Amino acid sequence: MNLAELWPFYSEFAKHPSDRSIAPLAGIFYFMNKIEVVFQMAIKVSTTNRIPPFLAMEMMNATRELEVTGADLVHLEVGQPSTPPPPAVLRALTTSLGTTRTHGYSVAFGELPLRQRIAAHYEDWYDCRPDPANIAVTLGSSLGFTLAFLGAFDRGDRIAIANPGYPAYRNVMKALGLEPLLLPSRAAEGWVPRLEALANEGNLPDGLLLASPANPTGVVMSDADVKHICHWCDANGVRLIMDEIYHGLTFDTRPTSALLHSNSAIVVNSFSKYFCMTGWRLGWMILPDDLLEITERLAQNLYIGPSRPMQEGAMAAFDDYDILDQNVLRYRENRDVLLRELPPEFLGDMAPADGAFYIYADLTQLSKTAVNSLDFANAMLREAHVACTSGVDFDQELGHRHLRLSYAGSTEDMKKASRRINSWLPSYLKSL
Ligand SMILES: Cc1ncc(COP(=O)(O)O)c(C=O)c1O
Repeated sequence: MNLAELWPFYSEFAKHPSDRSIAPLAGIFYFMNKIEVVFQMAIKVSTTNRIPPFLAMEMMNATRELEVTGADLVHLEVGQPSTPPPPAVLRALTTSLGTTRTHGYSVAFGELPLRQRIAAHYEDWYDCRPDPANIAVTLGSSLGFTLAFLGAFDRGDRIAIANPGYPAYRNVMKALGLEPLLLPSRAAEGWVPRLEALANEGNLPDGLLLASPANPTGVVMSDADVKHICHWCDANGVRLIMDEIYHGLTFDTRPTSALLHSNSAIVVNSFSKYFCMTGWRLGWMILPDDLLEITERLAQNLYIGPSRPMQEGAMAAFDDYDILDQNVLRYRENRDVLLRELPPEFLGDMAPADGAFYIYADLTQLSKTAVNSLDFANAMLREAHVACTSGVDFDQELGHRHLRLSYAGSTEDMKKASRRINSWLPSYLKSL
């Protein structure tokens, strides 16, 4: 019962002198009601799952706010292609929308024809053919690595990740009660984390999650490094999760897949980047046999299965690599425009940008006064109308010195961004 409802009743009673004795009781009910309100306000909100925001997405919100006021922005903040998927994909999606069958649930790991098509893609690119039974279609690779965390680890387990690295790894781990172990992978380490230190210090983690090409650095591990990491994990009983979401987006060679070098690794991939289907929220993972059952049960219970129409559209994604490779040529040109046009002290001691579509600039040499990349990115957005992401998202220790520039847009936009940065930068530096 809501005690507030009783208050008018008792206060009315208390107006009559003969019933004054009831007034204190009315007061007690009044205060009980107040207490109840306090209790009602204390409705549970998780404290253990409170994680930091994804700053690149926050920057995206800020750009949307500016754009409604009519601002003409250049977007270097979010890692998403600026071109649509190949026409065959759009045709396959439209056809599927007119078919009744595709409006129902999918099986949890995704429909078999798509899993077979993904298996064939491995034959085309890597000369190996995973069993479609080991392939799970997921809701973006985001859910792929989340399922990998849930299926392979227990609360309190430690998973090593590269620092700087993709922030959602660290944040999702924390929400799931896992402990991220940060491996420095900065200029001093040649931008690739050193695993031997872990074994030497008797500090072996339960898992290791690496991405190559990497976000935010764009660094591509050599095939020898990937092979070594796979063997090192197997030899040390460490479960490897390899995020291959930027495969296809390399400028010189096509990197090897961890699938070729390990039977225990989980490979995560996505339609978001090379295939230009970011908003479709579709990815896949290739699972070792011992994780099939647990992962399938998790997928069934968490989201039932991926969208069926999207899967039918994605079936055509592998039919025309040539169209998609044209984008890769443009990304390379975009990178070269930024490297050529931006001042060397703005780029600083940057990572070798050999893949994905990122430059991880180091602002240390920009000014004698320390530049904080969060303030820098905000000022550049408001004053130069160029959006990019502070390194703080990717590296909580040294990220304030770095800025991530995504060059997935048009070449014209890269030229525009360079012009704007060059004409704005001197006034900003003067204001420090
Ligand atoms: C390294 C890395 N992994 C995973 C993701 C998540 O991608 P999605 O869920 O769109 O497949 C991203 C997104 O930018 C990323 O950079």
